[in-house]
Parts: sequence; C-alpha cells; structure tokens
Amino acid sequence: MLQRRELIAAGIGLLTLRNTSAANQPPLAVFGATARSGRVIIAQALERGYDITGLARSPHKLDIDHPRLQLVKGDIRDVASLEAALDGDEVVICMIGYPTPKDPTQEIGEVDLYTVMARNLITAMTNQGNRRLIIASSTGVETRVGRDAAAPASANPTDMWRFNARYLYADMADMEEMLLGSSLDTVILRPGFMVEEPARNDLKFSTSGDTPPARVVTYEDFADFVLAQVDSNEFVGRPVSIYSDMIMDPAAELKKFQEKMRQQSQQPQ
Ligand SMILES: NC(=O)c1ccc[n+]([C@@H]2O[C@H](COP(=O)([O-])OP(=O)(O)OC[C@H]3O[C@@H](n4cnc5c(N)ncnc54)[C@H](OP(=O)(O)O)[C@@H]3O)[C@@H](O)[C@H]2O)c1
Repeated sequence: MLQRRELIAAGIGLLTLRNTSAANQPPLAVFGATARSGRVIIAQALERGYDITGLARSPHKLDIDHPRLQLVKGDIRDVASLEAALDGDEVVICMIGYPTPKDPTQEIGEVDLYTVMARNLITAMTNQGNRRLIIASSTGVETRVGRDAAAPASANPTDMWRFNARYLYADMADMEEMLLGSSLDTVILRPGFMVEEPARNDLKFSTSGDTPPARVVTYEDFADFVLAQVDSNEFVGRPVSIYSDMIMDPAAELKKFQEKMRQQSQQPQ
C-alpha cells in the first residue's frame, strides 16, 4: 500500500485519503503512537472519525490496522523524521516519554528527552506550519525537588521517587517553559499516575499547580480528555493537571513493580 507521503508526492490529494473522516475534524499526528496513552488515544480517535498519522520508533509494535491510520517511523531526536510526518494541518499530540525506570528505588540520571522534544517539536511544527500541540507532562513537575537536592526528604516511597526522578521532572519543567515561550498553541496536560483500566469517567482538573498528590487516572479517561483539547482553547497556554479522587498507594505500587520484575527475571530469555 502506498504511504500517505508517497500519495502526496504522486499528486494524489489528501481529500482522497480523508474522505471517510467526520466533517470539520482536523487530522491528528500522534507522536508516541506505541506509548500506552498513544495507543488508547489512537483507538478513541479512530472511533470518532479522525484521520491519524502515528509516529513511532518501531511502528510494527502497534497492532492497530485501520484505513484512517498511517504509521510512520520517526524519532523525536530526529527533526527531519518529524517534519516528514507533518503536512501543516494536523493537530499534534505528543505522548513520548522517558522509559519507565527499571527500578523506581534507583536514581535516574540526567534526562534531556523532554527539552530535546520541545526544541524539535517547535522547529518541526514551525517549519511545517502546524499550530496546535497537545503534549503530556506530569503532576510530578508540581512537587519536584531541585536538581541539586542532596538526599530524599524521607525514606517513604513518594519522597524517594521525587528525589530519584528529580532530573526527569526538572527536564519536563524546562520543556513546559520552552513550549509556553514558543509561538505554538500549546496545551500541556499533567496527568497523575496512569493505569490500564476501563474508563471511570471521574476526571478532575486543576490549573492552580497544587494538585492533590498520588492520584490515579485511567488511560481511557486521559485519552478522552486529550481529544477534548483538539478543538478547545480552554487550556491553551496554561498547564492543566488531571487527577481523580482515587489515591495511589506508593508502597503497594512499589511492591507490585518488584513482583513484576521478579517474574520477568524468571522468564527464559
Ligand atoms: N504513565 C504514567 O503514569 C504517567 C504519569 C504522568 C505523566 N506521564 C507522561 O505521559 C506521557 C505518556 O505516558 P505513557 O505511560 O503513555 O508512556 P509510555 O507507555 O511509557 O511510552 C513512552 C513512549 O515514548 C516513546 N519514545 C521514547 N523515546 C522516544 C524517542 N526518542 N523517539 C520516539 N519515541 C520515543 C516510546 O517508544 P518505544 O516504543 O520506541 O520505546 C514509547 O512509545 C509521557 O511523557 C509520560 O512521562 C505518564
């Protein structure tokens, strides 16, 4: 099957490809198509009739096959691959993130993924003429400790995580600042801890920067909130935190994680 870019290069108009899309919906470019959130966003967006370009380092990992989904290979560190995925009319949804740590009790070193992402998104979207960016950050930026912190505030798992992930959240906060200082229409979403469970329809949001900590959000509810931002100006330019009343138990999550790692280590290579 010809790729969308090849069709365009061959002079075949986008209308041909997009004629099944619901009226007046902009096409979407989902960067991070293989992310847990990216997959759910793509599935929900297809149900709603959007045309989607999904970008991933390994597109074959995405097991969704649909005539309105074009998958392209790309890396957020490679501006040319981002530009090649964009035509200028898409709303860009970026769910790319730092890989889940192998052990949350271990310190994460210097992170530059989020600031590189911000720089490359600004460059690629500006060059291609895309205006709107919807991107994931985290409620963790609100409670982050400084890069220069010497030790965790206490030995409880929440304080350990804040300390161990301080470079990650510092880089995320820098990303937010870069995007808000750019000329893009940026919607920054800060979800709480996300889980792969059915929708609960219980989302709350806050723009005050003091979101209640350790709250759980389902990927399904988050994806619904993301898609609501495609044509809403409510949160353009002001980061919004997304949470629920369900409280995560950090000690229990750590136990679950350690059990998962133990099981994986017992599996044959
Ligand atoms: N999960 C949570 O509880 C949570 C909470 C708060 C905020 N967030 C943030 O929300 C966003 C989405 O989270 P998630 O849980 O859906 O993510 P995820 O499942 O951990 O997936 C991360 C994605 O980023 C991609 N990626 C990493 N480096 C890349 C690069 N250089 N170029 C292209 N793709 C790259 C990975 O691709 P590969 O498949 O190629 O590795 C993967 O698809 C992230 O920014 C995360 O930090 C997550």
